[in-house]
Amino acid sequence: MRILVVGSGGREHALCWKIAASPLVDTLYCAPGNAGIAAVAECVAIGAEDLDKLTQFAIDQTIDLVVVGPEAPLVKGLVDKLEAAGIRAFGPRKNAAEIEGSKGFMKDLAARHNIPTARYRRFLDADNAKIFARTLPLPVVVKADGLAAGKGVIICASHGEAEAAIESMMVGHQFGQAGDSVVVEEFLEGEELSFFALSDGTHVLPMVSAQDHKRVGDGDTGPNTGGMGAYSPAPVATPEIEARIMTEIIRPAITGLKSEGRAFKGVLFAGIMVTKDGPKLIEFNARFGDPECEVMCLRLMSDIVPALQACVDGTLEDFALRWYPDSAVTVVMATQGYPGSTKSGSVIRNIPEERDDATVFHCGTKRNAAGVIEAHGGRVLAVTALGKSVREAQAKAYELVDQIDWPEGFCRRDIAWRAIAREGK
Ligand code: AMP
Ligand code: GLY
Repeated sequence: MRILVVGSGGREHALCWKIAASPLVDTLYCAPGNAGIAAVAECVAIGAEDLDKLTQFAIDQTIDLVVVGPEAPLVKGLVDKLEAAGIRAFGPRKNAAEIEGSKGFMKDLAARHNIPTARYRRFLDADNAKIFARTLPLPVVVKADGLAAGKGVIICASHGEAEAAIESMMVGHQFGQAGDSVVVEEFLEGEELSFFALSDGTHVLPMVSAQDHKRVGDGDTGPNTGGMGAYSPAPVATPEIEARIMTEIIRPAITGLKSEGRAFKGVLFAGIMVTKDGPKLIEFNARFGDPECEVMCLRLMSDIVPALQACVDGTLEDFALRWYPDSAVTVVMATQGYPGSTKSGSVIRNIPEERDDATVFHCGTKRNAAGVIEAHGGRVLAVTALGKSVREAQAKAYELVDQIDWPEGFCRRDIAWRAIAREGK
């Protein structure tokens, strides 16, 4: 098979690494890829949001399957375009990707299909949004409706803060058009987890749970990021909780989307809050998580390619995936300054070679003219290891982190602390 992966982050490196290991694959391309991905795939200089060029490349190179990593091309309709050109693609069409592209759509879908989620209302008018926010207990959550690169959610400790958040989104256009419409909702108390399931539009195959660390600083402090590290499985996802997530959240969403003419093919990523009343949906995403995908790919024993094909072909019923029972931990190394502005081009040396139980995925790297790896962007490496326990996986990951020579980089030193605290009990 000839496969094209779209994207350039750690998620796409993990996917390429896993896909390249499949005996079914003859040729693997990645657009645009990065310096780490170049070791397992041929990188093509086409941006992940250049729908026309990606489609033309897939036609010219007679690609058998396109695997779309990030949300933006899905929400823009890359899969629709590829399908119209007769090319098979893993990922939802535009009308199903709207579960991530519009938070208001996602919340209304949850309401229509009785999926437990935070009490909310959506608004096109700032004054009405402010009036509703005042009726909610504190803290209040204000969300820009559209894609805002993970920054469009503000947890407001006072009603004044909520009004200011609404004002800056709807009147100040802090997130551009993404904030023309907002969702105002109640705050859910509990422990957060990420849950992933594959779907072919009709059938659903649960994958595994993971937890990521969104805050930049140790002890889960400081501003939100795309994710500073992750681990899988998430101990909070007991078999009972996973069963409830499947029956109360994932299956009703897949069935509901299909009944509304928006069949969802691809991977459904549910952000869940495990509350005292059980699991509640925070949000849906239409793609793998980053860095959750890195830990999932290390834990996946089965060939990933037949699973991706089954989603595209509608043959996911009776499909099974095998997973290593081990835990996986990934530690993200970022350029100093992240999640604020960062300087590109610092040199990274001594990136450890791959081992059976550990791999360094690249999230934002380039190889310079002298062949040396440089950091480009905020999140740069995802150092990922497997272990019999979370503690063992964490120790291995930090052992590799400490071998890397990159003075301009930093990482959190406590990834997986919650799971390790539980293991210790
Ligand atoms: P998002 O950008 O939609 O992933 O949301 C960012 C983060 O905000 C989530 O991962 C949660 O930690 C938090 N969050 C969003 N909505 C709520 C809510 N209703 N209650 C508590 N936390 C929330
Ligand atoms: N790590 C969270 C996300 O990919 O959205």
